[in-house]
Amino acid sequence: MCEKCKGNYYITTPIYYPSAKLHIGHAYCTVATDAMARYKRLQGYNVKFLTGTDEHGQKIEDKAKEAGVTPQQYVDDIVLGEGGVLDLWKLMNISYDRFIRTTDDYHVAAIQKIFKKMYDNGDIYKGAYKGKYCKPCESFWTESQLKDGKCPDCGREVMDAEEEAYFFRLSKYADRVQDLLENTDFLEPRSRVSEMVNNFIKPGLEDLCVSRTSFTWGVPVDFDPGHVVYVWIDALFNYMTALGFENDKYNDLEEFWPADVHFIGKEIVRFHSIIWPAMLMSLDLPLPKKVYGHGWLLLDGGKMSKSKGNVVDPYILSERFGVDALRFFLLRSFPFGSDGNFSNELLINTINVDLANDLGNLVSRTVAMAHKYFGEKLPAEQAENPEMDAELVAMVASLRDKYEEQMEKFAFQNALADIFKVISRANKYIDENTPWVLAKSEELKPRLAKVLYNLLETVRVCAGLLTPFMPATAEEIAKRLGGAKMDWDSLNIFGVLPVDVACVAGPALFPRIDMEKELAALEELNKPAKPAIEIEPYAEEHVDFDTFCKNDFRAVKVKECKNVKKSDKLLQFTLDDGTGTDRQILSGIAKYYKPEELVGKTLVAITNLPPRKMMGRESCGMLLSAVHTVNGEEKLNLIMIDDAIPAGAKLC
Ligand code: MSP
Repeated sequence: MCEKCKGNYYITTPIYYPSAKLHIGHAYCTVATDAMARYKRLQGYNVKFLTGTDEHGQKIEDKAKEAGVTPQQYVDDIVLGEGGVLDLWKLMNISYDRFIRTTDDYHVAAIQKIFKKMYDNGDIYKGAYKGKYCKPCESFWTESQLKDGKCPDCGREVMDAEEEAYFFRLSKYADRVQDLLENTDFLEPRSRVSEMVNNFIKPGLEDLCVSRTSFTWGVPVDFDPGHVVYVWIDALFNYMTALGFENDKYNDLEEFWPADVHFIGKEIVRFHSIIWPAMLMSLDLPLPKKVYGHGWLLLDGGKMSKSKGNVVDPYILSERFGVDALRFFLLRSFPFGSDGNFSNELLINTINVDLANDLGNLVSRTVAMAHKYFGEKLPAEQAENPEMDAELVAMVASLRDKYEEQMEKFAFQNALADIFKVISRANKYIDENTPWVLAKSEELKPRLAKVLYNLLETVRVCAGLLTPFMPATAEEIAKRLGGAKMDWDSLNIFGVLPVDVACVAGPALFPRIDMEKELAALEELNKPAKPAIEIEPYAEEHVDFDTFCKNDFRAVKVKECKNVKKSDKLLQFTLDDGTGTDRQILSGIAKYYKPEELVGKTLVAITNLPPRKMMGRESCGMLLSAVHTVNGEEKLNLIMIDDAIPAGAKLC
């Protein structure tokens, strides 16, 4: 630790699944973590802020397959590509110190060592897994844990799972974890403790399945080929491997472990407050000091999900409203520990009321008056009026302590509310002191100068305390106050600005937004872009009717369909064409369909093409399909017709 620092502070966000574009809900947690990290730096701590991406698992493997790329290419694109995770954090001014990807070599090797250590100490053993698996959540469940037969976390369908697997002796740690949750401040808000204890620990903690054999995109268990480490083990240990645990890439473990706080969303509290401490106990490692399970940003009271078509893109919002306004809104409008309802209207209203009206106006009015009445600098001769000034001065001088109390509890909304109480008070102070009246008399100029000084000093302290939330705005305000000091030790003192402060004017910090127009514009932007469909040019040459009628189109039913060995293009169909003898057709459509999806379908075949051999197999006809290009990507749909049409029916 550096000599001047107050201490070390290690804070983390969850590592994000790069399975889809991140939305405003993901940005919420990262912005909160960033605000906390910046606050601790402001206080003088030596901060390590870790974020990253959780890149393994079946879901990613499936998505990559769907996209026709390797899993590594798939995650690389979402993490590093244009508009990807790293770009988003850069845009949102996220001041992380380290970014971990669970596909990083050092992490993978470390996870293998960690897994082996728990195997060697007897806490991981081999058994057989039989139960339910929720693919989107990458979670195993027992029958009794399901809610109405569905995943208790996300409410989606689960699937049967049975395989040879390794288990972690979670049950062994049940009592110690319960004690940790009930008798310490490990998990906050405290309201989340009873949920964990009553729903998961008291009904009996079962050992946890920690390996899979049904897919390969994960950290291989190096002493048992075919098994990959359960993604949550791989993911949770990121908090330590990123500091150098079981690897030589970094060397910060001693300084920063145990973490001061893991910020996480409420749905992953179970992993962080039960499984994570139990694994650390197994390895005899210090536990993080705190896990904070924040609430969710909801849309219309429900989950933010792409499937609802209402995901709010942080890129669009930042572009329209500015990054600082968006950051501010997220932490000002919702209590961090509870859920909050996101809406564009609330966002615009918050910007208009707090930022345009209260803060923006205070800054521009004060700076403009200082210029108008005194030119470049305030005069040194200033007249106090204790009766008029005392309340504002006292509020400003005590603000930092109040703010600190709230920030230490992660009560960002309250910390901001305290700042905005002072800002409102300052705006009222302008009305009470009527600087425009004072300006009319030469005699009252010293009083006018003091009024303006008090206002500028108020702005300085408020902007300084806003730095963690709106770093760019705070910097701009410091410039407008002639390069004002905003370090922590200056923020609980009234009177730090030089009396003859020289202000710099500038455009409105937050122009007022026309609610109706903006909502209409956002709605327009939310409409899905029309896909650019390209169709083949029409043939110009005519075909005479008799020639056309020579084509023998028939309805055929798929009896069997399978991939052709060594070909990634061909599917082999066994078809009922109504003749009583099966017809075989080969079709180059494996890219578009899984064979099992097509069994039982009624398709259209042209049956009088001369038979032809493909990969050594005979194909007697051709299946009709529609081909077109959407957004540059070639698509194909087999022509499927009503199943009521019998096999062999002639189509004309
Ligand atoms: N990969 C795991 C975390 C592993 S940590 C060892 C994961 N990833 S995630 O991408 O699905 O979610 C990352 C974080 O975003 C979680 O904390 C989650 O709660 C948060 N949010 C996702 N949607 C959210 C909202 N709508 N609102 C607030 N936070 C939400 O879980």
